[in-house]
Amino acid sequence: MSSIIEDIIARKVFNSRGEETIEVDVITANGFGRASAPAGKSRGKTEVVYYPQGGVDQAIKKVDDLIAPELAGLNSDFQEEIDSTLHEIDGTNNFKLIGGNTAFAISLANAEAAANSHNLLLFQFLGGNNATTLPYPLGNCISGGKHARGKAPDIQEFLALPHGAETFLEAATANAQIHSKIAETLKKKDKLFNGGKSSEGAWIASIDNETALETMAKACEEVGNELDFECGFGVDVAASSLWMEKEEKYSYESEGKKRDADEQLEYLLDLIEKYHLAYIEDPFHEEDFDGFAALTKKARKCLICGDDLFTTNNERLNQGIKIGAANSIIIKVNQIGTLTDAAETIETAQRNGYTCIVSHRSGDTCDWHIAHLTVAYRCPMIKTGVVEGARVAKLNELIRIEHFLGNRAKMAELKIL
Ligand code: PGA
Ligand code: ZN
Repeated sequence: MSSIIEDIIARKVFNSRGEETIEVDVITANGFGRASAPAGKSRGKTEVVYYPQGGVDQAIKKVDDLIAPELAGLNSDFQEEIDSTLHEIDGTNNFKLIGGNTAFAISLANAEAAANSHNLLLFQFLGGNNATTLPYPLGNCISGGKHARGKAPDIQEFLALPHGAETFLEAATANAQIHSKIAETLKKKDKLFNGGKSSEGAWIASIDNETALETMAKACEEVGNELDFECGFGVDVAASSLWMEKEEKYSYESEGKKRDADEQLEYLLDLIEKYHLAYIEDPFHEEDFDGFAALTKKARKCLICGDDLFTTNNERLNQGIKIGAANSIIIKVNQIGTLTDAAETIETAQRNGYTCIVSHRSGDTCDWHIAHLTVAYRCPMIKTGVVEGARVAKLNELIRIEHFLGNRAKMAELKIL
C-alpha cells in the first residue's frame, strides 16, 4: 500500500534562536513528510521533556536504533497507532527516554507523509472536506518578561487580534501594519529604541506595562480605522515568570510593584475594562487553577487562556474544566509530544466550549504544520507572531490555504467577543 512507512531519517537542524533541534523525514512507499521541532523559553513545568540525556545527538540515535526499525512497515494512515507505538517505545509518562521533541517531529512528519501518500494537503487529510475555516491570527507586537532584556515590560507579550477582518489575508495585513506602526510610537517613547526584536519578532523597548498597552491600543485603533474593521488586542502575562513562590506575590519590576493573588485579579480586571482587552493568557501562575477560575467568572468579553496552566495536557484541562478555570487553551503539540495527544485535548476543549488557540514556540523553525492543524481541527485562532521567518512561514501557509479554498474559505467565529 502506498502509505506504508519505508524509512525514517532524523537529522540535526537549528531553530530561529540558533539552538539545535531535531528534524525528521518519514518516507512511505508513495509519499514523504518532513517536520522539525520548536522550543519554548518560558516553558510550563508540566511539559514533556524535550530531549533525552545527551540532547539532539542522542535523540537522533534513538530514532536510528529504536524507533525507525519499529515504525518501518506500519501504515502511516493510522496516526494513533504510530503515536501509541512512540509511547510504548519510550515507556515513561513524559517522553524522557526518546524526547518529546523527537516524538513531535516523527508524529507530524508521519501525518504529512500520510497526507502526501494520498495526494492531499495535510489540512484536508486530517480535517476532511468541511475543513474550510480560517483562524484569526494573534500577533505578538511588543515583547517583555523572559522574552526581553533590560527595562522592558513585565508582561511577556502584547498581541494584536484583528477580529473584525473578513479574510485571513486582511487579518494578517492588519497585524503587519499594527506591528510597524508600533515601532513609530516606540521611537518617541524610548529614546534608546533602535529596532531591537525578540525571537518572535516583537519589538523590545524600555517601557512599562501601561505604556505598552497604550501603544497597542493606539496602533490597533488607527489601523482598524484605516482598514475599516475592528482590531482588538490582548496579552500573555506568563505569570509563572513573575511569581515569587516564597513571598506569594507577582513581581512587576518595571513598576517596582508586587501584587498578591487578589491584587493580581483586581489589576487584570482593571486592565480588561480600561483597554477592552479581548485576550489574557496565563494571568496567574501555573498551579493557581482557582485564580484562573475567579478571573474567568468576573471577566466580561475576554478570552482567559491557559498555556503553562494546561500544557496541552488533557488531564490538566479536565482539572480546569471542573472549576471553570479559563475559557480557552493554547495548543502547543510539543508540550505533550504527539498529534494524537494534542487532538484529544482539542476535542475535550471543544466539547466543553473552550476556544482552542494553536501556537508556535518562541524558538521555532520554518515548519508550517501548525497552520494546517488550525484549519483541520477547526481552531478559531492561531498565535504565531507577525514578522521573522519562522512566524511568516505559518502565516504565508494560511494565506495559501485560504487561496486554495477560494470561495469555500470563511473566517472562524469568535464566540466570546
Ligand atoms: P515559549 O513561550 O517561550 O515557551 O514558547 C511562549 C508563550 O508563553 O506563549
Ligand atoms: Zn504563553
